[in-house]
Amino acid sequence: MQIKIAKDYAEMSRLAADMVSRLVESKPNAVLGLATGSTPLGLYEELVKRHRAGLDFSQVTTFNLDEYYGLDGDHPASYNYYMWEQLFSKINIAKERVNIPNGAAADPEEECRRYEARIAAAGGIDLQILGIGHNAHIGFNEPGTPFGTTTSLVKLAPATIKANARFFEREEDVPREAISMGIKSIMQSRSIVLLANGEGKADAVAAAIQGPVTEEVPASVLQLHPDCTFILDEAAARKLTS
Ligand code: GLP
Repeated sequence: MQIKIAKDYAEMSRLAADMVSRLVESKPNAVLGLATGSTPLGLYEELVKRHRAGLDFSQVTTFNLDEYYGLDGDHPASYNYYMWEQLFSKINIAKERVNIPNGAAADPEEECRRYEARIAAAGGIDLQILGIGHNAHIGFNEPGTPFGTTTSLVKLAPATIKANARFFEREEDVPREAISMGIKSIMQSRSIVLLANGEGKADAVAAAIQGPVTEEVPASVLQLHPDCTFILDEAAARKLTS
């Protein structure tokens, strides 16, 4: 596991954008795994800047980690809406190469199988971007999720519903379920970059990097990945012991 400590959020975002740019420049048809939430907003802003300076996304394929179940893709709090708003509408990505779980699927189990099959058909993910929840969840894989899970319909932990209520009018509006790539799906990515900023993530980051590898701390599984980088700002790195 590699750990990079940036002085602030802007530097964290630039370091992550450097890794994505290097990959896309060396492999124009790269397959990217993408995350949502507040954390990667700066990364996406950087990628838009780099696209305006010439970075070409026309052959890139993307797979998003997760989507709320029960929200249409045009709902402003859906991850589909977020991705188009923050990134896809501002770069030259081909619509047919964008993959996000369908939160409005009538048969969610079938949607999960279809999603895994599409990742496999694309040749797997080259670089997966992750954020981390306060309880160390990755994607929407909450504490207790078996490490062997693939894409599935999952229940959100009460703490996650609370944390994500800021994106909805009322806490009651937050969906209770989501379709999420599983821990196993994430671990199959050839490389992984986890971003975390702010003091609120310091405990989760320390547990993920220096605690025991346990299903109670989903991000701790990343200790077992052969090519995983954590990019942290100083606040998120505060609880790491040297
Ligand atoms: C959400 C997402 C995760 C994200 C996490 C942290 O629940 N499903 O993919 O990493 O929360 O979000 P934030 O970056 O807003 O702190």
